[in-house]
Amino acid sequence: MYDLSCLRDEFPVLSGCIYLDSASTSQTPKRAVEAMCAYFYEYAANHGRGSHHLARRTTEEYERTREALGRFLGVDPGHLVFAKNATDAINMVACGTCWEQGDEVITTAVEHHANLLPWMALRGKGVRVKILPQQNGIVDPADLQDALSQRTRLVAVTHVTNVLGTVQPVEEMTKIAHDAGAHILLDAAQSAGHMPLDVRGFDFVALPGHKGLLGPQGTGALYVADYSDLSVTCHGGGIVGEVTLEGFSLLPPPARFEAGTPNIPGVIGLGAAIGLVGELGVGEIHRHETRLGEQAWDGLSSIEGVVVYSPKGSPVVSFNITGMNPDDCASALDLRKGICVRSGLHCAHPLASSLNPLGTVRASMGCYTTPEEVAVFVETVEEIAGSR
Ligand code: ALA
Repeated sequence: MYDLSCLRDEFPVLSGCIYLDSASTSQTPKRAVEAMCAYFYEYAANHGRGSHHLARRTTEEYERTREALGRFLGVDPGHLVFAKNATDAINMVACGTCWEQGDEVITTAVEHHANLLPWMALRGKGVRVKILPQQNGIVDPADLQDALSQRTRLVAVTHVTNVLGTVQPVEEMTKIAHDAGAHILLDAAQSAGHMPLDVRGFDFVALPGHKGLLGPQGTGALYVADYSDLSVTCHGGGIVGEVTLEGFSLLPPPARFEAGTPNIPGVIGLGAAIGLVGELGVGEIHRHETRLGEQAWDGLSSIEGVVVYSPKGSPVVSFNITGMNPDDCASALDLRKGICVRSGLHCAHPLASSLNPLGTVRASMGCYTTPEEVAVFVETVEEIAGSR
């Protein structure tokens, strides 16, 4: 059973605020912070370098997270490359693919900039970038079918949009892309840890560590089904077999993609956090967050002067008070009751500005959010709307 009171003890920060900004970054559970403290206090050393006992322990703990993430996702951990965040993971693919003039990438109008700008930047290299339209935050797979050509190398799509929480028809899109011989990259920034996710059908999946997986900031991973099309873009220590003045040989993946000293404490903290997500169960988390999303949607929709853009049940609820700047509404929520929400264009300008030129106010739930917090949030929006 989902025991919210025990869960709340893992997040001391939540006693001093109403945190409804989990789509931006999640709070970090005590057990992840303690795992990071243990690294610093008990055995800190570098990963994969040195044979002394601290270095061995560090390497073991770091690799334990890769194994935990592999178990969590149901994949071989050898297919997981650690990254700084989902943006970094997507850039590994954008910069590590050997593009040819005239190659095509298809992405969509609902993307976060992380899954839009890396592809748009390829235009300078002669890559054609097609952007599928959206309606109510959803992309129609038929538009993908129409856009595909013999030159399409990759389709890059988000699973859940960060502005509205809409879920894209990614299974259907994957089938369409694969039938046309294209690869598909899934941006799982808003789905990993929030809802059931089977990464195995995709060619690449970008995973942030610091959102639904509850890890610390500066962590993430790229799932790669087949490394053969991916080149190393960052060279340095920790990735080589042999180096002479004439050349070098690379270690097998994933090590070859992790040059330099990585975020060792962060990755170790992520491992502990994934343990908590696994204990709660992603299905349970999804049910809990969906119920809260419904509660917020029902409450906000009944307030005069409030327009709700997200679909009912989405744990990401975008809305506006008519005539009020979203930033002013977010500040008022914070000032009145310490409610933390995001406002503006949410690093997804095309989608957010299609709703309102100034963007929206966005409340996003986490596994630790309570119905009481959502009730206070709705009441406070009502007060603000009524006081104008
Ligand atoms: N991607 C994060 C958000 O949507 C930062 O807020």
